[in-house]
Amino acid sequence: MSKQKKAAFHNLGCKVNSYETEGMLEAMRNAGYEIVDFQEEADVYIVNTCSVTNIADRKSRQMLHRAKHLNPDACIVAVGCYVQAKGADILKDESVDIAIGNDKKSDLPAILDEYFRGQRESFFCKDIGASCDYENIPIHSPGEHTRAYVKVQDGCNQFCSYCIIPYTRGRIRSRKLEDTLTEIRELAENGVSEAVLTGIHLSSYGLENTGKNIDYALQGLNNSPLLELIKAVAAVPGIARVRLGSLEPRIITEDFVSALAQIPELCPHFHLSLQSGCDATLKRMNRHYTSAQYKEKCDLLRTHFDNPAITTDVIVGFPGETEEEFETTYDYLQNLGLYEMHIFKFSERQGTVAAKLPDKLTERVKSERSAKLLALTADLSKQYRLSFLNRPVEVLWEDEETINDQTYLTGYTKEYIRVAAPTSDNFTSGTISKGKLTVPLTDEIMLFSAEDYKKPLENPTEMY
Ligand code: F3S
Repeated sequence: MSKQKKAAFHNLGCKVNSYETEGMLEAMRNAGYEIVDFQEEADVYIVNTCSVTNIADRKSRQMLHRAKHLNPDACIVAVGCYVQAKGADILKDESVDIAIGNDKKSDLPAILDEYFRGQRESFFCKDIGASCDYENIPIHSPGEHTRAYVKVQDGCNQFCSYCIIPYTRGRIRSRKLEDTLTEIRELAENGVSEAVLTGIHLSSYGLENTGKNIDYALQGLNNSPLLELIKAVAAVPGIARVRLGSLEPRIITEDFVSALAQIPELCPHFHLSLQSGCDATLKRMNRHYTSAQYKEKCDLLRTHFDNPAITTDVIVGFPGETEEEFETTYDYLQNLGLYEMHIFKFSERQGTVAAKLPDKLTERVKSERSAKLLALTADLSKQYRLSFLNRPVEVLWEDEETINDQTYLTGYTKEYIRVAAPTSDNFTSGTISKGKLTVPLTDEIMLFSAEDYKKPLENPTEMY
C-alpha cells in the first residue's frame, strides 16, 4: 500500500457482532490500515449491521448514510445481518459500495484489496442456511482491560416465530475448542481475568454433527460439550472468572447445574431468555417451555448457587397479546425475583412466522406495556442489589470514574452488580478484592467496603 489508508468501524447489535467487529478491526490493522474514529475522514467505513428489529435496520441504514456523508469518496462497506436479510437489494442504496454477509467477514481485507485495485465486484454474501463451517475471526488484544467477550458458537436452529436471526446467521456451528483456548490464553497473558463466552445460541455449542435431536441434546447432559468448554476455559492460567452469555432455559437441568456449581470460576449470573410469562403467548412464539417450567429452572439455579443473578429478555406486544395475557406476564415477573429484564417491543420481521400472525398491536399499546415492565425491572434490580447489603462479595476492579464529584474505582461482582470504592482505598484495576456492599451510591452502583479484607485475594475463588 503506497499511502497508509484509513479505516473506520461502527458496530450495531449483539455481543457476537461486537466481537466480530473487533476481529475485523484487528485484521484490517494487520493488513496495514490505520484505524480512525468513525467521525473522522477515512478511506473506508465499515458498518457491522444488525437486523433484529425495524429500529436496528433503520440504524444500520443511518450509519451507512452518515459514512457516505462524512466522505463521499470513501468506500462504504455494509457487513453482517442487515446485508444477509436484504440480499442484493442493499446495493440499491447508493451509499453502499460493498456488501459482505455473515461468514465472509474474515475476507474483508482481501475484498478491499481487490476493490482498491479496481475490481468492482460488490456483493459477497451467500446462502447462510447452507453454511456449515464456523468462521474463525480471532482477537488477540482485549477491547476492555479486564473482561473479554469470546465468541464460541454461531447460528441457531430454534426458529422462534418472531426471530430473524436463524435467517441471518444460519444453522448451528461451533468454534474448535483449541482455537478458543489459544485465544483465551493470549487474552489472559494480556491482562484479561474474566472470559465471557458468547454465541448466537450458546446452548447449542458442540451439538452440530452429533446426530442427536437437538431438543433432546439441549436437555443439559452433564458431559455436554458446553460444560467441557467451560471447565477448560476456567482452567486457563490467569482466568479468575468465566461468565456465560444467554442460555436456553431447557439446558438448565439438575445434572447441568450441579456440574456448573463445581466450577469455582463460574459466575453465578445466568441470562435465561423468557420472552413471555403467559403460556399461550409462549406457544405462539414457538418457545419450547411453559412459564412453570421456566420457574423450575430458576429454582434449580437457586438451589445450587447462593442468590444467583438471573436476568432475562421479554417481548411485549407480540401479535394477539391481549391485556389479560400481558397482565399474566406482569404478575409472573413480579414474583420471579429476577435481577434484570431487557424489554423489547415486538418488531415485525419479514419472512418470519410471526409476521403473518393476525391481531397486531399498535405502537401505543406496545409502548405502554414496555413502560410498565421497565418500571418493574428498575424496582426488581434495586431489590436484588439491596439483597447483597452486608454480605460477602468479590469484585473485579476495572476503571476510575467520577461519581457525585468524587473519584472512584469501579468494578463488578460475580453477580454483575456494579460497585465502587473511593480511589483513596487504593484498590488496583485488574485485581480482585473481597469485602461487602454497604450502601447504594447511586441507583445502579453500590458502595464497596473491604473492611478487614483489604488485601487482594491470593486465590480469587476461595470465597465460593
Ligand atoms: Fe443483530 Fe445479527 Fe446480533 S440481527 S442481534 S447482529 S445476530
